[in-house]
Amino acid sequence: MNSVTGKTALITGASSGIGQELAKLFAQDGYNLVLVGRSDDTLDRLAEVFKGNYGTQQVTVIKKNLSEEDAAQDVYNQVKAKDITVNVLVNDAGVGLYGLFATDTDWEREKAMIHLNVLALTQMTKLFLYDMLARNEGKILNLASLLSITPSPLMAVYAGTKAYVYNFTQSLVNELKDTNVTITALLPNATDTDFFNKAGAQNAKVTDEVQDPVMVAKDGYEALMAGKPKIVPGGLKNKSYEVLAYVAPQEALASLMHSKMLPKPEPDADNDMSPKLAWGIGFGIAVLAGVALTVAYNNTSVYDKARYRYKAKSAGNAISDALSSVLDTVADVYQNAKSKAEELAPKAKKAEEELVA
Ligand SMILES: NC(=O)c1ccc[n+]([C@@H]2O[C@H](COP(=O)([O-])OP(=O)(O)OC[C@H]3O[C@@H](n4cnc5c(N)ncnc54)[C@H](OP(=O)(O)O)[C@@H]3O)[C@@H](O)[C@H]2O)c1
Repeated sequence: MNSVTGKTALITGASSGIGQELAKLFAQDGYNLVLVGRSDDTLDRLAEVFKGNYGTQQVTVIKKNLSEEDAAQDVYNQVKAKDITVNVLVNDAGVGLYGLFATDTDWEREKAMIHLNVLALTQMTKLFLYDMLARNEGKILNLASLLSITPSPLMAVYAGTKAYVYNFTQSLVNELKDTNVTITALLPNATDTDFFNKAGAQNAKVTDEVQDPVMVAKDGYEALMAGKPKIVPGGLKNKSYEVLAYVAPQEALASLMHSKMLPKPEPDADNDMSPKLAWGIGFGIAVLAGVALTVAYNNTSVYDKARYRYKAKSAGNAISDALSSVLDTVADVYQNAKSKAEELAPKAKKAEEELVA
């Protein structure tokens, strides 16, 4: 259903991931589209899908590498030449790069990343915002990240570019507050797109916790349409990360993020039994403790029962901490016993052979 026929959204980075999901939402709502990116084949195919599925009337594909000097100016000139009015600008295109800054990462890739994530986004905003203000109408969505508000070792330059995007956007929120033009920053947590592969971070632990790009795009789209200054998609869990980022010391945040960015440990088939055994023993201990507590509880006075209930409540967290530490200990004990047995096995075999001889 074309509810906003005649309006146009320009989206960078629509060929995949979050940008593609955003483009779909605009198409579903009846926007005409300008899609900007390097993969023009993919964008052409997407244009056909949108026309077929949602009756999108006009899709313009602009092939452009936004890491190149003045790429944004060229995009703007092409849009003007086609006499298209851009009502909504989405600066989604962005890349990351994984590795230690001093020794691992390549400067040319970092330079291109800064150009794309910072310069192109800023220039696109400058050019299209000027026209929006002249009309006193328009919306802009800038892709920031939860890394905008936390240091991120092993993705240091990327996090720096996203900190820029967030800060820049919030400054413009204030500058635009007396107009009908709005600007919104979208701060997703790690999301299930090709981003981590392209950044060389496919083995980072954080890729085990990725969220759905459809959800991210939907939350971003709704915040953009509502003219909100920022949105952290993903409900309470991600909002609590946001709050933590504002209140926790930077060193602590950097350590936390470093641990999330480290490579996943290699799976060790030999140790497969260890966690299972540990869980089994831990579960047994918990059941026995529960039975003992129930018996004790049933044999106490009303006053003591009230005290126990109070103590049980405040001890809840401590118990779960203690249980996980018991499990760790059991796992260690099992591992040590296993190593010792492996160490002693050849000696035992030799002694047996000598005895037989
Ligand atoms: N995935 C995450 O965990 C995550 C979390 C927070 C924020 N973000 C941000 O979300 C945005 C979208 O990322 P994604 O996760 O959807 O990753 P993605 O699937 O890799 O999409 C990146 C998009 O950027 C475009 N792009 C890359 N380099 C370009 C260049 N030089 N010129 C023009 N376009 C270029 C790509 O198109 P072409 O290859 O066709 O050019 C692609 O459409 C990025 O700004 C990213 O920083 C991602």
